[in-house]
Amino acid sequence: MRDEQARAILKRNDRGGYTIPTSGLYPYQWNWDSAFAAVGFAAFDIDRAWAEIETLFSGQWNNGMVPHILFHVPDDGYFPNHDVWQGTGPIPSSGISQPPVAATMARMVLDKDPEAGRARMAALYPRMVAWHRWFMDWRLDQGAVCVTHPWEAGRDNAPDWDAAMAAITPDGVGDYTRRDTSHVDSSMRPTKYDYDRYIWLVQRGARLGWDEAAMLQDTPFRVADPTMTFILLRATRDLIALGQMLSKDVGDLENWATELEAGAQTLWNTQLGCYDSRDVVGGSWSVSISNASFLCWYAGLDAPDMRTRLAEVLALTKFGVPSLSPDDARFDGKRYWRGPVWGMMNMMIGMGLTEMGLPQGDALKRSTADLIATHGFAEYFDPRDGSPAGGGTFTWTAAVWLAWAS
Ligand code: DGY
Repeated sequence: MRDEQARAILKRNDRGGYTIPTSGLYPYQWNWDSAFAAVGFAAFDIDRAWAEIETLFSGQWNNGMVPHILFHVPDDGYFPNHDVWQGTGPIPSSGISQPPVAATMARMVLDKDPEAGRARMAALYPRMVAWHRWFMDWRLDQGAVCVTHPWEAGRDNAPDWDAAMAAITPDGVGDYTRRDTSHVDSSMRPTKYDYDRYIWLVQRGARLGWDEAAMLQDTPFRVADPTMTFILLRATRDLIALGQMLSKDVGDLENWATELEAGAQTLWNTQLGCYDSRDVVGGSWSVSISNASFLCWYAGLDAPDMRTRLAEVLALTKFGVPSLSPDDARFDGKRYWRGPVWGMMNMMIGMGLTEMGLPQGDALKRSTADLIATHGFAEYFDPRDGSPAGGGTFTWTAAVWLAWAS
């Protein structure tokens, strides 16, 4: 039954070549949502799976960046729209990127039918390398990958950005009307304090024409983060495998993987005994045990302390890995990235654990399957009781069910 529902959600959210995360709240193509959608489609329509990734890369900018939102068809129900972002690519878009899961998901799609997918993968490969090169050129700090906007990590209101956000005075941001809170209860969304700073950062980027060099000057917001670092490292390893399959020279990619591996170690917060986010401008640790911390195995990195942290967090909830440890004073079980459990984060963490031969991978898969079977295809879930939160009939939750959890 859930299989059928999951397929129906992907079809319902399909806008022809791309999939929206959910109608109303997110009416456009989002970067990492789309890559997850592809592995969902791959369970029943390989051709459609490839089309999803191809449409995403059709929005790639000349500098290699693949935007976090492609505004294919204008929709008044979303804010901030393209008139605020003023992205400079071939398709109206935002001006920042998102966690680069696409190479990893493309490899999973290819594995389903290597013969049929080879030519499509070969066409995407140079575009993916160019995107990874853009991260290496513009987002590194000591080898760790930084975000320049909380939306770039996809974990919008995670405590990881609190210090950097507090350093911003959102002068001149002006009046605006949020649309997200007309679709979802405001207790499940970021606050006005957050939004003022999100929009201020967007206005700054637009004013500078999204010129990366100009934006780096006196940047107020630059946080080195486990989401981006582990995901780019993992995706680079997948690109290396794909490049070798296509008989490409993967020398640059191998150097990037080495650099990112060293960079990941600069995210080790010794006092916390955990991978953590580092505010590059202000210099402070976030001191957060988040679900992004546990992406280390997905990136091929193990640490005995991380196994202990995982056991501690899993002892506090039976629904998978929460976005913030429930014993953290900042924990808020319904508020987006300050507590809730997310299916696709569970999937990436679980994949990593299983690949490392750790039994918690299977356990995580089972708890995610139970969560979705019992509470449906919500955007995220309260880790205290599994209750659904955020948007409903959500693409990536359906995709996680089809590709991994069922
Ligand atoms: C939003 O609008 O909430 C998105 O997370 C931005 O990417």
